[in-house]
Amino acid sequence: MNYSLSEEHLMIQQAARDFAQNELLPGVIERDDEQRFPVEEIKKLGELGFMGMMVDPKYNGSGMDTLSYVIAMEELSKIDSSASVVVSVNNSLVCYGLEAYGSEEHKEKYLKRLATGEIIGAFCLSEPEAGSDATSQKTTAIDMGDHYIINGTKNWITNGSSASVYLVIAQTDKDKGHKGINALIVEKDTPGFEIGPKENKLGIRGSDTHSLLFNDVKVPKTNRIGEDGFGFKFAMKTLAGGRIGIAAQALGIAAGAYELALKYSKERKAFGTEIANHQAIAFKLADMHTQIEAARHLVYKAAWEKDNGINYDLSGAMAKLYASQVAMETTVEAVQIHGGNGFVKDYHVERLMRDAKITQIYEGTSEIQKIVISRSILRD
Ligand code: CAA
Ligand code: FAD
Repeated sequence: MNYSLSEEHLMIQQAARDFAQNELLPGVIERDDEQRFPVEEIKKLGELGFMGMMVDPKYNGSGMDTLSYVIAMEELSKIDSSASVVVSVNNSLVCYGLEAYGSEEHKEKYLKRLATGEIIGAFCLSEPEAGSDATSQKTTAIDMGDHYIINGTKNWITNGSSASVYLVIAQTDKDKGHKGINALIVEKDTPGFEIGPKENKLGIRGSDTHSLLFNDVKVPKTNRIGEDGFGFKFAMKTLAGGRIGIAAQALGIAAGAYELALKYSKERKAFGTEIANHQAIAFKLADMHTQIEAARHLVYKAAWEKDNGINYDLSGAMAKLYASQVAMETTVEAVQIHGGNGFVKDYHVERLMRDAKITQIYEGTSEIQKIVISRSILRD
């Protein structure tokens, strides 16, 4: 077993860290305040190869492994999770989903442009009445021979207005339950496809979350991903990898808050000494450091399993469950260590605390991760 990162992984870490410091940090407070999507920043991330990190170079990707991806996600998320969620959805849900399960035509037509960041994608599973209970799809995709007609509503879609390509999960045959669900590629300008209002959120406010409305949207059958009825399994298999990306995002939020708290505790003085010299503060830092290290091990292990062809459903769920809990606890303590300054925007930790919460909700809530974990250990 080797615990040190390779030269290549260290280079990716440094590149992502530099990008976060130089390109994301300067406008991050304003984008959060104004709920502004990081348009230019995502374009630059695409130019640097971060939007299709694991995609085969023959489809314009960077051909890197999952470990590289989680290392980059951690560094970007230390500073700006509104940007890193765009990276995460595009890489691990949209690009991965198309590369692993799409046809050659899908890869030529969509993946090649998604992998460079020329366009970005969205993954549309959740609905007003189907969040955790994802098999209860109400959106329909009726089989019309050579095409499908989609009707319904999707909720909470990340990249809702900025995406050009949407992977939409919908029910074709209700009688077949989850085996009657399909995954279809929908282009933004398709007639009948409408983008609903933007959500005004607690955290990741720079990310554009929208409901999407489908009114007799006609999609060619060639835009179906996989065999008829594969849509739910497609969603589950894709989300299993997505959860590793969100776990890395949570890890980055925790690590970012810890780094700020550590620095502040060595500068701020109270009762004649730096606050780090008060054991109550030093012990908080000790707990944060230990939890972050444990979370990092889970995230790296899940990435390693994915890279080595081992089933990662369990390790990805454990990584997401634990890292998101650490993100929440660590950011709350980071605000506490900053005292009153922690409560104002200039010090960044309040934003990290607000951003941390979403990692316990999206791509499967913590309760859903416990369902996945408990089913796996009881089955085995
Ligand atoms: N891989 C392959 N197949 C899988 C699978 C996996 N990881 N997980 C489940 N399946 C299969 C099952 O084997 C089963 O198929 P069979 O009947 O052929 O055996 C089928 O899927 C249905 O599975 P379950 O019976 O376990 O279904 P369930 O109704 O009990 O639900 C669940 C399972 C894990 C709770 C699932 O509904 C779930 O993951 N819910 C959470 C949804 C979610 O994560 N949404 C995220 C939306 S995307 C997002 O959030 C993006 C973002 O924010 C940025
Ligand atoms: P519900 O399913 O209604 O859950 C409510 C509560 O009940 C939760 O605490 C949940 O854990 C608990 N609960 C539900 N069932 C059980 C059970 N069986 N056992 C124990 N507890 C249970 N979705 C997409 O498809 N694509 C996206 O890009 C996307 N982006 C998102 C971005 C944001 C900012 C947000 C907020 C959400 C996003 N989502 C997206 C949706 C997200 O995946 C769902 O919100 C999430 O899966 C939970 O579904 P829900 O909101 O309907 O909550």
